[in-house]
Amino acid sequence: MNRIIIFDTTLRDGEQSPGASLNVDEKLVIARQLDRLGVDVIEAGFPISSPGDFQGVQLIAERVHRPVICGLARAVSPDIDAAGEALKPAKKKRIHIFIATSKIHMDKKLRKSPQEVLESAVSAIKRARNYTDDLEFSPEDASRSDLEFMCQVLEAAIDAGATTINIPDTVGYAVPEDYGRRIQDILEKVPDARKVVISAHCHNDIGLAVANSLAAIKAGARQVECTINGIGERAGNASLEEIIMALKLHRDTYQADTGINTQELWTTSRLVSNLTGLEVQRNKAIVGENAFAHEAGIHQHGVIQDRECYEIMHAEDVGWRGTNLVIGKHSGIHAIERILKERGYQLEKEQLREVIQRVKEVADREKKVEENDILALARDVMTDLAPEEQLLGLKEFSVMTGNAFTPSATIKLTIEGKEVVGTAVGVGPVDAASHALQSILNANIGPQLQLKEYGLKAITGGTDALAHASICFEDEIGNQFRGEAIDKDVILASVHAMVKGANRAINFRKHFPSGVPERTSSKSAASAPAQSPKL
Ligand code: KIV
Ligand code: ZN
Repeated sequence: MNRIIIFDTTLRDGEQSPGASLNVDEKLVIARQLDRLGVDVIEAGFPISSPGDFQGVQLIAERVHRPVICGLARAVSPDIDAAGEALKPAKKKRIHIFIATSKIHMDKKLRKSPQEVLESAVSAIKRARNYTDDLEFSPEDASRSDLEFMCQVLEAAIDAGATTINIPDTVGYAVPEDYGRRIQDILEKVPDARKVVISAHCHNDIGLAVANSLAAIKAGARQVECTINGIGERAGNASLEEIIMALKLHRDTYQADTGINTQELWTTSRLVSNLTGLEVQRNKAIVGENAFAHEAGIHQHGVIQDRECYEIMHAEDVGWRGTNLVIGKHSGIHAIERILKERGYQLEKEQLREVIQRVKEVADREKKVEENDILALARDVMTDLAPEEQLLGLKEFSVMTGNAFTPSATIKLTIEGKEVVGTAVGVGPVDAASHALQSILNANIGPQLQLKEYGLKAITGGTDALAHASICFEDEIGNQFRGEAIDKDVILASVHAMVKGANRAINFRKHFPSGVPERTSSKSAASAPAQSPKL
């Protein structure tokens, strides 16, 4: 059996999914769960890309010790230095360097000749050796690159010190036959290719990311890069859970093992979905709500006679837990702690204390709190701003709405201690509240924010359920700031989410008055607010 290295990039490529945004605390919780799941490498972020990414990589490097922690870098010195700095505390660290080798990327994006690309790759790898010997190199857009030229670059990369060569199907263009053949060609043409690890990195633009990854394993790849729930740029990356279960069910075909504990797949999937806000489609393979449901009568009959008539694997194999535990007024702290732990929320002591406190407050009011309420409260605590970041505070709020007049809202805020009031109308109460908040910001503090996205959902059923509101503000130059909050009142949840988003925007401007972070200074990154826009 070949031992396949599972390289998880949920926190890097996955977090680049439109709509996903994680703060450093959430990234740490996911990294701890990935450790429990048994992945070999965690790509924790792209340190140069934003202060939040830098801090996320640094924190994970400090606290998660079994897997290798990896940071991404372009083939330029500032990126490599930022990755090296962020990874400093890691027990086992890897720098992942990439540069495009396809003609279209070299001509149009990089404006570099093939020779310049080769030289950049080599000098970047040499520079990265100052930080670690574990170096991964990716020729971006590999599946559309000229094979001969790409092999020359790979040979030079290995000579310079790369220990893993990753072959990205960046645009999700490949089909299994061609992608598998490309891996084989590399193994045959590149001297010393068998002395390093060849890795697959597939995107899902035509739905073939998992099939391509399996073809790569068949052709000799010893590492696959994947994400939980297949999240990632555009149509996403290869889904970790699908690759793992395919390898497990077809051991004879692939002759491959991994270190993954499949019992942790379902918990990890739910955790990533809850924290990123990216829902798992009901019919998603392995972890979707319907993956193990048998609706058709003929199927139900078969399953009753023998499960294997229609089940190639069992829900228990992937750690599926359908139960929705309920916490009451008299449930102990241990019950809450157990739910959080089982669901992968390994929190810091202070955070745990706060979640318990908030669950108890809701239980006192509502008599019972469901599991999903507890998880939502945990997320709320993780996304709370530090007291020094709460420059705006909500003092009072009222709305008027009805079928016979225009909805209006009045908000009283404190801005660094001073009280200010804003009133506005809108097409609905939330719209009116957003205009009232914007009028206060415009008159008193800036920046100019526009509400770009708004989402609201009841966490559990019923009209008395807790509501979760999420918003996204955009400033004049396109930076985006998210806010989320929970309350039993849907409008209040929305206003709290807006105040959180506005606080993030104001904090960001305090650190970066021009609205653009310095890209090259790891010092500024380390002291910058945790949640800031991607570059
Ligand atoms: O898809 C891609 O090309 C990437 C690289 C950075 C490896 O994610
Ligand atoms: Zn990618």
